[in-house]
Amino acid sequence: MSSDARDSDADAGNGAPGLENGEYANHLERSRTVWDRWSDWYEMSENDLEPMRETAMDHLELRPGDRVLDIGCGPGVNFERIRSDIGETGTLVAVDYSPEMVAKARQRIEDHGWENVEVRRADATTIDFEDEFDAAIATLSMSVMPDVRRTVENVHRSLVSGGPFVVFDIRAVPTGPARIVNPLLWRFLRWYANWNPDGDVVDSLAAVFEESELVETYFAGVTYTVRCRKATSEGS
Ligand SMILES: C[S@@+](CC[C@H](N)C(=O)[O-])C[C@H]1O[C@@H](n2cnc3c(N)ncnc32)[C@H](O)[C@@H]1O
Repeated sequence: MSSDARDSDADAGNGAPGLENGEYANHLERSRTVWDRWSDWYEMSENDLEPMRETAMDHLELRPGDRVLDIGCGPGVNFERIRSDIGETGTLVAVDYSPEMVAKARQRIEDHGWENVEVRRADATTIDFEDEFDAAIATLSMSVMPDVRRTVENVHRSLVSGGPFVVFDIRAVPTGPARIVNPLLWRFLRWYANWNPDGDVVDSLAAVFEESELVETYFAGVTYTVRCRKATSEGS
């Protein structure tokens, strides 16, 4: 596939119904700037949270031949594990909005010679996939989307019935006295990651998916994993 074709839907969010407002466009543009900037430094810290990403991927229970979607893939930190689970007969489609992150992810694919892994430069909130996926994952990316609820709905739409969606992410301290650090944490995440303080990822997953369970929490609940499942065609 040509690079132009892969990237053609990158700005789709600007024309989507209900998303024309300046706030959405500003958030998206700021994400591009922030994540382009961090792309050169990301590998310094990408292994720090690796055990948690691995546990999240365990929850997908992938099988050889599965078609998998990776939302906000960054430089492709999840590719090796997913590729090893789905083998040569599966398909991995990854999406990221930052051109620099996409370039790094494509370099990783080229370095490994994976022929069934593809990265699209696109807004994960609005991209329209022509095919369905057996499973989807988002690690540390849902909380930076310009419209979290719409992104969850888009993933839900893109899954086969019964398909799992696993999200590993970060949020404000949910309970207890440690909540005192939340204003600082918010500011840091907003600056560092263009975090979206208006989007409650856990609530959005519970509202959109027929099954949704908080399966792991770390660091006083600040990082967590949610496993969701789309209803089977007979109902959940
Ligand atoms: C913290 S990084 C996570 C990267 C990787 N998944 C990981 O686990 O390290 C967040 C990623 O989300 C991407 N992103 C932000 N907004 C996006 C959007 N609207 N559509 C697709 N990707 C987006 C950023 O470009 C960035 O690469």
